[in-house]
Amino acid sequence: MNGVHELVRVVLPTQFGEFRVTAFEVQPGLVYLALAKGELADGGPVLTRLHSECLTGDALGSLRCDCGIQLRRALRRISAEGRGVLLYATGHEGRGIGLVNKLRAYVEQDEGADTVDANLRLGLPIDGRRYDEAAGVLRELGVTSVWLLTNNPDKVRGLRHAGITVEGTEPLRTAAHSRNVDYLRTKEQRLGHLDTAGEELDAAPSAPPDAVRLIGEVVPPPDRPYVVLKYAQTLDGRIATAGGDSKWISGEEERALSHALRAACDAVMVGVGTVLRDDPQLNVRLVPGASPLRVVLDSTLRTPSDALLLDGEPVTLLLTTERASEDDRKRVQEAGAGVRVLPPGPGGVDLAAALRELRASGVRSLLVEGGAQVITSLLSAGLVDRVVVGTAPKIIGAGKEAVGDLGVARVTDGIALSNRSVHLTADDVVTAWDVG
Ligand SMILES: NC(=O)c1ccc[n+]([C@@H]2O[C@H](COP(=O)([O-])OP(=O)(O)OC[C@H]3O[C@@H](n4cnc5c(N)ncnc54)[C@H](OP(=O)(O)O)[C@@H]3O)[C@@H](O)[C@H]2O)c1
Repeated sequence: MNGVHELVRVVLPTQFGEFRVTAFEVQPGLVYLALAKGELADGGPVLTRLHSECLTGDALGSLRCDCGIQLRRALRRISAEGRGVLLYATGHEGRGIGLVNKLRAYVEQDEGADTVDANLRLGLPIDGRRYDEAAGVLRELGVTSVWLLTNNPDKVRGLRHAGITVEGTEPLRTAAHSRNVDYLRTKEQRLGHLDTAGEELDAAPSAPPDAVRLIGEVVPPPDRPYVVLKYAQTLDGRIATAGGDSKWISGEEERALSHALRAACDAVMVGVGTVLRDDPQLNVRLVPGASPLRVVLDSTLRTPSDALLLDGEPVTLLLTTERASEDDRKRVQEAGAGVRVLPPGPGGVDLAAALRELRASGVRSLLVEGGAQVITSLLSAGLVDRVVVGTAPKIIGAGKEAVGDLGVARVTDGIALSNRSVHLTADDVVTAWDVG
């Protein structure tokens, strides 16, 4: 008499391991999928994620929300635990308003509403989800007590109200993106997510997230992305030794912060000198977040076919010039890169054209991670909005300077910085400034 009934059971192998999938009809035409691992009904709280369907986030990788990253983190967590269940709740799309209404709410958000007011403007509930159906599915699975993977106290309240014992919670934190930080803030401030009040949710992380605070306010001009320059330097201003070694100038926490900065931006860019010297992956590994588009300034396509940044899921674009041979264009395209041929400029690729190309393809925020020549070119051309520098407690003497000759004769002619942010990591001091 649960009101739910089982339709089919099947084994589903996933990139997170094998799950037993059971489909339950919870209302006519409405189906929940339970992805289970281990023995659930043998007593003891079951690690559980009640995941609200989000086609755009879960399947399409949308950065307007954090759903896809939470879904994958939850499956990974349950698989690592070896016992647990993820309930995938269809009908919960857009907090229960449905896919098309959710897209309409996005239009309202683009016009200035937050995620709560957008629903209200459309005459829709702020949150139309109910949790008694999920409780019914859990009971069918023999689960009466859970340890819930959530940031949302409503889910805790809803399941408890429906008779499930929630023994405790584990938050699913994600690295904020400049595209979803307002949404995450609204969830915290207006929907009480990660709020300890009245519930046993864990303490909230510091808000706003530091990486997003460090990149400043993303306001791209019409003809280029908002550009954030980021590098790690020694106390004496070197980004590498004279021989080019830069691993690792900064400590682990500062490097994790760099990954959070990547996760916050639409694209990350380096010069081909950095690719040849360091062979970076330029993806997000040290924090739970999405990897941005990877971009290399490479006027003759010297990027090797086996460069690590040509591997993996994120798209890599090589910005080049007519000086690159046809053979090399074919070679890197076969290795999976996108190639854009742009006009030449001082230093290699014309920077204004490169940034225009990126903006036209939808890049609003660009993190530039070096190296020295690219940093210098961008600063010389006045194309930087924000500078984020990790300064490490090391002095190495002669080496590669972060910034080369800018033709500044008097200190008063130097590039002025304002609006300072300071962030301390275990080893390093990270400072961030607006340019101008
Ligand atoms: N500590 C850090 O945070 C950090 C970060 C990154 C790199 N690094 C270090 O920096 C070093 C690499 O720096 P780098 O100065 O040699 O190389 P880079 O700045 O990464 O790349 C420079 C190359 O990019 C190409 N390029 C294309 N268009 C350009 C433009 N408009 N302006 C400037 N360059 C353009 C040019 O090659 P083509 O003429 O072939 O196009 C140029 O030689 C390595 O030692 C690396 O370890 C340190």
